Amino acid sequence: MDWLRIARSGPRKKRPRQMDASAVSSPHNIKFQDLVLFILEKKMGSTRRTFLMELARRKGFRVENELSESVTHIVAENNSGSDVLEWLQLQKIEASSQFELLDVSWLIECMGAGKPVETTGKHQLVVKQDCSASPDPGHQKTLPLAIKKISPYACQRRTTLNNQNQIFTDAFDILAENCELRENEESYLVFARAASVLKSLPFTIISMKDTEGIPCLGDKAKCVIEEIIEDGESSEVKAVLNDERYSSFKLFTSVFGVGLKTSEKWFRMGFRTLSQIRSNESLKLTRMQKAGFLYYEDLVSCVSRAEAEAVSVLVQEAVWAFLPDAFVTMTGGFRRGKKSGHDVDFLITSPGATEEEEEELLQKVINLWGKEGLLLYYDLVESTFEKLKLPSRKVDALDHFQKCFLILKLPYQRVDSGKSSWQEGKAWKAIRVDLVMCPYERRAFALLGWTGSRQFERDLRRYATHEQKMILDNHALYDKTKRIFLPAESEEEIFAHLGLDYIEPCERNA
Ligand code: CTP
Ligand code: MN
Ligand code: MN
Repeated sequence: MDWLRIARSGPRKKRPRQMDASAVSSPHNIKFQDLVLFILEKKMGSTRRTFLMELARRKGFRVENELSESVTHIVAENNSGSDVLEWLQLQKIEASSQFELLDVSWLIECMGAGKPVETTGKHQLVVKQDCSASPDPGHQKTLPLAIKKISPYACQRRTTLNNQNQIFTDAFDILAENCELRENEESYLVFARAASVLKSLPFTIISMKDTEGIPCLGDKAKCVIEEIIEDGESSEVKAVLNDERYSSFKLFTSVFGVGLKTSEKWFRMGFRTLSQIRSNESLKLTRMQKAGFLYYEDLVSCVSRAEAEAVSVLVQEAVWAFLPDAFVTMTGGFRRGKKSGHDVDFLITSPGATEEEEEELLQKVINLWGKEGLLLYYDLVESTFEKLKLPSRKVDALDHFQKCFLILKLPYQRVDSGKSSWQEGKAWKAIRVDLVMCPYERRAFALLGWTGSRQFERDLRRYATHEQKMILDNHALYDKTKRIFLPAESEEEIFAHLGLDYIEPCERNA
């Protein structure tokens, strides 16, 4: 059985639109004659359905009360494609009908736009091809639908922040993290990929039937899903959450500058709380860890969008003081549309700067912030970038650009909103900031690499290597067959070189 994505097969036939009396129940003017909508009540409920039907009619859409031959778009909520197909087969509708099966997110976007918006992969419901219902071109017995699989690569899926399967993805994220801490790379990938594919689904998994044929879900992952469906929780996740080693690891690595090795060491030394470490004078902490403890409370409380915007202004002001033509772009989670983050990431590049000016910029910015009293911590990492070096084959390759990991003092009065969450009596908040400086001709690669998510980046590189015989990293794209570097001025060009549909940053939350 294949997992399929329904799309229209070939050009749509013009069908006569019969004005069936039951269908014309609304007094509203129909502005969009080509579309006939039907909204499925199943799992949506009648109140919401009535509301959405009325809203759509007011916006000029033709919405049928009953499913009829004239329907062109079926809209469903919380249903998988197979749910909708199953329901359709019970309706005994005329078999030659062709429609799009769409998630309610499409209708909501249409309502926002006040007109029909294009139906893209993220709206189209996924269905399983049932052998008994497989389209037979000779007989127009079943739904003639063209079919597209869900890709096993995150870079061929659209993953917005609208996660319909959080109950499952939270579980897989915890299991993946636990494997990471135990340095079990293989199991880590099993769980990370399962979480990632579920984040891209336009429907919620309700029964095991919904998981059939979804890529990246092996037996292990399916067991976890089944347990959550049946018991509401996974015993394996519960065990991880109760595991002393896991909780200590989570706690220790929440300190800036503490990684796997250090937390492992502290755990083996018998430490279980941060105050035990803080009060132990014989422990040698790095400069980074000292800063991590000093600003711990500020740094564990997430950075809000308003705070990130305020930091962005600080960065722009400082950068433009030295390179007025520089582009300063917020990357990382905030570029993907996240409402909060653990830090704020920026990519800086200047079309006019000389190599020397480029090299000196970050140090100058740091000096300026130092003078202004905004610098709480910094670590400047010099560039190891070489123009002719081949991209790295490693999926989690390190970046060679000059960069700086900082903790900035963000003055309270520079933030537009969200002040209520600030500690009373304190005039500033410590914020983690990452700055990356890249040569202008590499900006598209750097932007793509620093926008994430981590899983999206990993799959982009995996896809380049395995499907295109190319090597991609944060600096370049190399075609191994043609033995040439493929230059790019924009992210769109990189996707095109790779033969991929363009995926917007907000759809890269894999
Ligand atoms: N990255 C990278 N090289 C590094 C660090 C990060 O290429 N040395 C990339 C990663 O692909 C990541 C992105 O930069 O997706 C941003 O990294 P990070 O700030 O760690 O993650 P975010 O996705 O921004 O998440 P958060 O909101 O927690 O900051
Ligand atoms: Mn980030
Ligand atoms: Mn970062």
